[in-house]
Amino acid sequence: MKVFLNKKIPQVGIDILKENNLEIITSEIENPSHREWLENCKKADLLLNVGKNKYDKEFFDACPNIKAIALFSVGFDQVDISEATKRKIPIGNTPDVLSKATSDVAFLLMQMVSRKVNYNIEKINSGKWKDFDALEELGQELYGKTLGIFGLGRIGFEMAEKCKAAFGMNIIYHNRSQNEQAEKELGAKYVTFDELIEESDIISIHANYKPEQADLFKKAVFEKMKPNLIFINTARGGFHNEKDLLQALKSGIIWGAGLDVTNPEPMDKDNPLIELPNVCVLPHIGSATIEARNGMAKLAAENIVAFAKNEKMPTCVNP
Ligand code: DGY
Repeated sequence: MKVFLNKKIPQVGIDILKENNLEIITSEIENPSHREWLENCKKADLLLNVGKNKYDKEFFDACPNIKAIALFSVGFDQVDISEATKRKIPIGNTPDVLSKATSDVAFLLMQMVSRKVNYNIEKINSGKWKDFDALEELGQELYGKTLGIFGLGRIGFEMAEKCKAAFGMNIIYHNRSQNEQAEKELGAKYVTFDELIEESDIISIHANYKPEQADLFKKAVFEKMKPNLIFINTARGGFHNEKDLLQALKSGIIWGAGLDVTNPEPMDKDNPLIELPNVCVLPHIGSATIEARNGMAKLAAENIVAFAKNEKMPTCVNP
């Protein structure tokens, strides 16, 4: 069977595909157009997908040979899962292997925003650091604060665990279902969405994104938050309305924001959010560690191999 690998991945994934006698198709062009990418998809039976290509009805109609897709990501919002399921096309993702790395970035952003690290680095770079000032640029401490997790799965659990261990935070969460492990081990409390946004000092998003959740965090929601609220999004940029977030940050409705995801990506370099002193934006690096990316490559390749051997993918997202 032919596997189209649309971008480079760590060697461990390539080795697994080769050891299992799969033929690998790669793109000859570094940044192929949509048409060139589609032409390669048409030549393949299986896809190992890196990045945010869309897999919907239109795609499946155009590429009827595609039998399975292994995503190089835990998120699968780019795939119309019901359409794939209807056509019996299994979709694999890469959970667990990136939970530590991604929650590390959420934890890092929370601390950067609480102590205005970005702003303070800029102060040095621009030569504006003059003298010690007792009242200048005070941050806020995180000890004993309430962390609100939106979407308490594996990554959310890791974030909650770190915040509890480092800062003794109270953990509240809103999720599709209750998370017994988090309640037992971290004393996490399940709350309604309104309670989450009203009671939290930090909100960190770790849910799987669905199109119906677009702009869930919008003006009316930011207005209910505490003024010291730190907003962290390492999941998907679609969760927050960017204009409303900008307004909430500029007018001091909330304290600050740390974003590893934006909408669209990449964020325009002139985006006014980047200039705000209470914001830290990173270029979607949640899973960007050697360890996580090796784990993702291995798992994505194992999903492909399992399908090729007529076995169930180890991490298949179809119901
Ligand atoms: C993921 O794994 O979903 C990351 O956000 C990369 O897309």
